[in-house]
Amino acid sequence: KLRKVVSVVGAGNVGEHTAALLALRGLVDVRMFDLPKKDGDRIIEPVKGKALDIQQMLSALNIDGKVEGYTVSADGEGYQALEGSDIVVITAGFPRRPGMSREDLLEKNISILSVIASKIKEYAKDAIVIVVTNPVDLMTYAVYKLLGFEPQRVMGMAGVLDSARFKTFISKEIDVSPQDIHAYVIGGHGDEMVPLISISNVGGIPLKDLLSKEKLQELIKRTQFGGGEIVDLMGTSAYHAPAASIVEMVEAIVTNNKRILPCSVYLDGEVGEYYGVKGACVGVPVKLGNCGVEEVIKIPMLPEEREMWERSVQSVLKNLKVVDELLKVMV
Ligand code: APR
Repeated sequence: KLRKVVSVVGAGNVGEHTAALLALRGLVDVRMFDLPKKDGDRIIEPVKGKALDIQQMLSALNIDGKVEGYTVSADGEGYQALEGSDIVVITAGFPRRPGMSREDLLEKNISILSVIASKIKEYAKDAIVIVVTNPVDLMTYAVYKLLGFEPQRVMGMAGVLDSARFKTFISKEIDVSPQDIHAYVIGGHGDEMVPLISISNVGGIPLKDLLSKEKLQELIKRTQFGGGEIVDLMGTSAYHAPAASIVEMVEAIVTNNKRILPCSVYLDGEVGEYYGVKGACVGVPVKLGNCGVEEVIKIPMLPEEREMWERSVQSVLKNLKVVDELLKVMV
């Protein structure tokens, strides 16, 4: 097999756009999996239509690549084509509606993910898995537990998206290309996520020397509620920037470029100790390569950032017991 294969399970807003962007970059072949839908009395297979549409987009643009769609059932039929996947991206599940927190999705999404995890174990036991379904830190933990893979091969996408949002706001504020902005958002993917100001910089100049405290606070708040801002405007959650963030992670893994990206990973042992977390998935900067998470980067934090970090971790931990209970029932 010459080209890497990325499977995207769940071809809704995020999954579809992820598949399209991955295909456009021309690096990998893409397989999409989703449920059949109803159109009046008729059963239709949108995932196959979407795959065809994306495949034809590639022809229009003269880009090589294979895109295939597979209709699956909620109880796990139809997943054979996961075989040979180098990476599996999970975006299946329910998205947030206005007024919902990411935690409201917990129970429903865990039961969906337990079926998908069992199929990944059956057909793609060597794959690297990227979890996108919300609440993402808890879902990554659940998938990690369900799969029993090494922690290096299971990660959640959130920090890249949150950091992209933060960079967008900084870029607008000071009129500099996002390419020259380094800004990491770590912690849980919730309203208490932690934009790390002390190490953020623009062209090497510390962010705190470029913006007033008030302005920084405003940008931090807007980043923390960046997902909600879009849910309120669109009536459903974002998908362009989430898809792009997934692509960034996939490309780091596939090209083995050793980028440092914030991802939700299972923390335990030595690095977990540095971050004060044991036995949970939370967003931290990691080095990504062929093997998945190759290293957890220990980022220095100011005392006030560490306080924010602790609060953010607590907001993830408070639901971990619920997840463990749900997992007991599922396994
Ligand atoms: N098996 C396979 N696919 C499923 C299953 C299942 N059991 N259950 C749901 N899906 C599919 C849906 O059919 C739908 O196409 O998952 C897709 C979800 O897509 P959307 O509803 O459009 O949601 P989206 O905006 O893509 O968000 C997906 O990512 O960012 C997170 O919070 C978001 O948890 C949500 C997930």
